[in-house]
Amino acid sequence: MRNKSLSIFIAVFLTIFGAAGLSLAGTEEDRNISWTGAEIKILKSLWIESLPPLPNDSSNAYSDNAGSALLGEEIFYDSRFSANGKIACSNCHLPTYSFTDDLPLARGMATTGRRSMPFLGLAYSRYFFWDGRKDSLWSQALGPPESRAEHGISRTACANLIFKYYRSRYEEIFGPMPKIDEESCPTGAIPDPADPEGYRSWQGMTEKKRQEVNRIFVNMGKAIAAFVGRVVPAPARFDRYVEAVLKKDAAGMAILGRDEQLGLKLFIDKERAKCINCHNGPLFTNGIFHNIGVSEQGEGEYDRGRAVGIKLMQKDPFNCLSEYSDAEPDQCKALKLVPVEIRETGDKMEGAFKTPSLRNVAARPPYMHDGSQATLAEVMKFYADTSPQTRDSALTGEEQRQLAAFMATLDAPLRIMSLVGR
Ligand code: HEC
Ligand code: HEC
Repeated sequence: MRNKSLSIFIAVFLTIFGAAGLSLAGTEEDRNISWTGAEIKILKSLWIESLPPLPNDSSNAYSDNAGSALLGEEIFYDSRFSANGKIACSNCHLPTYSFTDDLPLARGMATTGRRSMPFLGLAYSRYFFWDGRKDSLWSQALGPPESRAEHGISRTACANLIFKYYRSRYEEIFGPMPKIDEESCPTGAIPDPADPEGYRSWQGMTEKKRQEVNRIFVNMGKAIAAFVGRVVPAPARFDRYVEAVLKKDAAGMAILGRDEQLGLKLFIDKERAKCINCHNGPLFTNGIFHNIGVSEQGEGEYDRGRAVGIKLMQKDPFNCLSEYSDAEPDQCKALKLVPVEIRETGDKMEGAFKTPSLRNVAARPPYMHDGSQATLAEVMKFYADTSPQTRDSALTGEEQRQLAAFMATLDAPLRIMSLVGR
């Protein structure tokens, strides 16, 4: 009798425990989806571990210089470099917000025409700004100070500020600094005919002084670029998932829920959702320009994007072929690759914009060059219903949700390379 009840007890115990064990294995199996060899290859290409070491910018001899990066970092946060003393680069590029901001259109001295952009591995980028009108990070940094809507100052004001506040740090990195003062270098002088008074004042400076100012301005850009180029994304939940897939570790793969995994499967489907055709590599961008139909939808003035950006890059006095660049002419890939770029994207440069990285994307709304889309759900609806590249994919509401769920697995804090632990 006692034996019988004991065996019943054991049987009941085993049934409950066994079933629980089974159902645990069952959830894991239900949750994980399977991948073909070809798909695993794509997953690996998106993995953060596939990112090559931080490259050097051959046009910036100071891009790999810690002193230059530290100086650049300080100027980045210094609001004295603005017309009202209140605007620094960091006003529109917040370190807590992937170095972008939450406004549809960025605001400095006035409201600009586009959304601010995040810093997510920009050292790997070949073109800068939504329209790619700059071919280096250092020449990019020379745009905002002289933009009326951003810092609203001039290169002469920058030279005066550096002489006054950063002279010894500057000289340690770039060598002796010529004397800069208001008399020889008026802060209002600017080589921009659109500002007649500033332009007259610039023309009134000696040629030697103008060259000295340009050189200081360029070096400031090179220091800022050394800092900006060090900002890189860190491994996200998605990257731990890929690691588990590569190790065939089913328990590790459970780090993504089933919907997130299904979203990923759709994301890398080249025929249907097609996201991977443009958002590829470990930074989820091919780095080039496409017109996905945003400008056509916009309520504001039509923005021609890359169609104008190409010409601005080619005639930029600070481009890679200019006297201020440290590169050999054959290293100036962005300028040389324009014809290839046009061929690859089917010559549709009208209304084309730089493919954004999707790292940290869920954590930094709003979206698109004009900030016209407030949520990832809206972006997904746009791809499903409107974008010429994807509207024939017939993405269902559930699939749109799965894609958005997948994108949220790309969130992770940023790292600042080699300034860490200083
Ligand atoms: C008023 C807000 C504002 C300020 C101030 C500002 N930016 Fe920006 N930034 C923007 C906007 C808007 C864009 C996109 C502009 C465009 O495409 O025409 C941008 C683009 C960029 C990009 C291009 C990123 C990419 O992926 O191509 C970099 C880098 C950048 N800014 C760095 C800086 C630096 C460095 C400073 C300070 C010298 C600065 N910004 C000051 C708003 C601002
Ligand atoms: C033909 C290339 C292409 C394809 C295909 C594509 N994208 Fe994009 N994506 C872009 C470009 C270019 C932009 C920026 C467009 C603009 O601002 O005008 C963008 C913007 C985005 C944004 C907004 C990011 C930001 O920072 O503003 C998200 C999110 C996004 N795409 C996700 C996807 C998803 C998901 C898919 C697949 C359903 C997809 N994309 C397919 C090129 C593409």
